[in-house]
Amino acid sequence: MKKKTELIVALDVPAQKDAQVLVKTLSPAVKYFKIGMQLFTACGPSVVEMVHEHKRDVFLDLKFHDIPNTVAQAAASCLRLGVFMFNVHAIGGSVMLSALMRALDDESKVLKKKKPVVLGVTVLTSMDRQQLNKVGVIRSVKNEVVHLAKLCKGAGLDGVVCSGKEIKLLRRVMGEDFVLVVPGVRPKTAGLDDQKRIVTPLDAARWGADYIVVGRPIAAQADPLQSAKDILAEMEQAC
Ligand code: C5P
Repeated sequence: MKKKTELIVALDVPAQKDAQVLVKTLSPAVKYFKIGMQLFTACGPSVVEMVHEHKRDVFLDLKFHDIPNTVAQAAASCLRLGVFMFNVHAIGGSVMLSALMRALDDESKVLKKKKPVVLGVTVLTSMDRQQLNKVGVIRSVKNEVVHLAKLCKGAGLDGVVCSGKEIKLLRRVMGEDFVLVVPGVRPKTAGLDDQKRIVTPLDAARWGADYIVVGRPIAAQADPLQSAKDILAEMEQAC
């Protein structure tokens, strides 16, 4: 049977009180929330604990990229914090990726805690071929995405964050068990905001995304709970 695609709501708000209102409002329908740089830098781990107090799970989107030891220590901190998923830049390289996976293994044995899902960020959707070339990458965006996804898999990561337009390719090349998390999702009725290469929730689900990440089409609506339910209902059509 086809895997169910789960909804993650991005808490792209400036303060903990705004995040708490959203989590409280959406909790009847939404299990997963994404905390990114803006909110985490403003509030720190207490905002993660707030989501956990509502018995909901956190995808910590801090995109770590540093020397292996530093990222390994940050990964161990993610495990201690109890987030269910976090991400790192694949471009940090296989030594960095392997080091953080080893640190997670060690820390999970010590604490007897389940390891979080670890995702690689391949090519940011804000980068095009010209920009990649300027930082010295001569492959096409597509080839670079596949190359980095394979690097992630080789180091034992669970999956990648990818654009909706990459789902089919990555599903084919990386197999069924590789976790694909897809931002830039817009229901047909929603505006694009600043997203350019969007997919609908139904297409993302049909093509095999494990999770979609949605921010403004839920959080910035008059009735966020209804908007979340509409997106979940749209994805159900793919089952
Ligand atoms: O409001 P919207 O649905 O566009 O929010 C999408 C979320 O996913 C934001 O938190 C954004 O930072 C994140 N994201 C993205 N594109 C990527 C990676 C992350 O939109 N390539």
